[in-house]
Amino acid sequence: MTAVDVPAELAAARVLGIETSCDETAAAIVQGGTRILSSVVSSQVDLHARYGGVVPEIASRAHVDLLVPVVAQAFVEAGLSDHATAERPPDVEAVAATYGPGLVGALLVGVSAAKALALSWDVPFLAVNHLEAHLYATLLEAPDVELPIVVMIVSGGHTLFVLMEDHDRYRILGSTIDDAAGEAYDKVARYLGLGYPGGPAIDLLATEGDREAIRFPRPMVGDGTFDVSFSGLKTAVVNHVRKHPDVATADVAASFQEAVVDTLLAKGLAAARAVGATGIALGGGVAANSRLRERLVERCEAEGLQSFLPSRAMCTDNAAMVAAAGWHRWRLHGPDPLDVGAVPNLGLA
Ligand code: KG4
Ligand code: ZN
Repeated sequence: MTAVDVPAELAAARVLGIETSCDETAAAIVQGGTRILSSVVSSQVDLHARYGGVVPEIASRAHVDLLVPVVAQAFVEAGLSDHATAERPPDVEAVAATYGPGLVGALLVGVSAAKALALSWDVPFLAVNHLEAHLYATLLEAPDVELPIVVMIVSGGHTLFVLMEDHDRYRILGSTIDDAAGEAYDKVARYLGLGYPGGPAIDLLATEGDREAIRFPRPMVGDGTFDVSFSGLKTAVVNHVRKHPDVATADVAASFQEAVVDTLLAKGLAAARAVGATGIALGGGVAANSRLRERLVERCEAEGLQSFLPSRAMCTDNAAMVAAAGWHRWRLHGPDPLDVGAVPNLGLA
């Protein structure tokens, strides 16, 4: 990684990060872009489970209810105060929030709160791209990683193969042309009656199944692109179960998971080879998948590449990665204006 040139006033600066792009209400305080002083995540998963997926309106309302206590908890855990007065400066030097991509109502809660706090504390506001934050989740835990690397962001909303050459220098090499990997897990789990979120349920059930029982398709593998497609795989699962109603659910789960992992690894490794990356990092909720983690390590070792597996807490949405990305944004571009709004379809570039 290129040595980071940090002005003295930024080196020790503490950034409050706020994340509300989907169904996690999160706040964290990170110092100097690397030191996590606190990281609080309140998952709304129980609120959405009965609907089989995230309900945007419920998510927004829950963020409104949860954000103030979650931010307060982040200050408590960091040993800092969330009360600044005319005589007493705030204990953080900037406030960062995810402004996209995500659910518009959910994003607005975090962005509005961050702007209000920045304004009242008279500190900079930093608008953070959620996908860039996932890239920083890797760097938070592997600060000495030798770039360039390929980061596979695999979540419920995204499946991206990103070349990270340096801070602020990213290139999307490939992505899903239809469903995201996590979405495929959630849809297949729902079809199999395994509940929501589907990823952890399939991951667990797959340990009891035979991953070679059913040969599901590996869509687009070997087509020379770094793009993937998962909607045909989901259809293949549905067709197989309809045709073989007595099939063991664990075998379906294990065979489906093997197809997803094969597909992701084939494209991720091809991308890493093509750009001469030193290694591959994982990010996003699906990065918690035990089979993906195990196989990535094996395959990278076999090909002389490094593999970077974030802790499970850093795979899923959190605000420490938002604070870290915000700190780097501040260092490279300065603060953002207070008229930045939520951008639900924000891309990475
Ligand atoms: O990154 P994330 O917390 O939220 C966004 O989508 O932004 O990812 C959630 C997704 C869900 O689709 C969930 O089913 C999937 O990550 N997931 C997993 C596992 N844990 C979570 N997928 C496969 N295996 C897992 N262990
Ligand atoms: Zn995410």
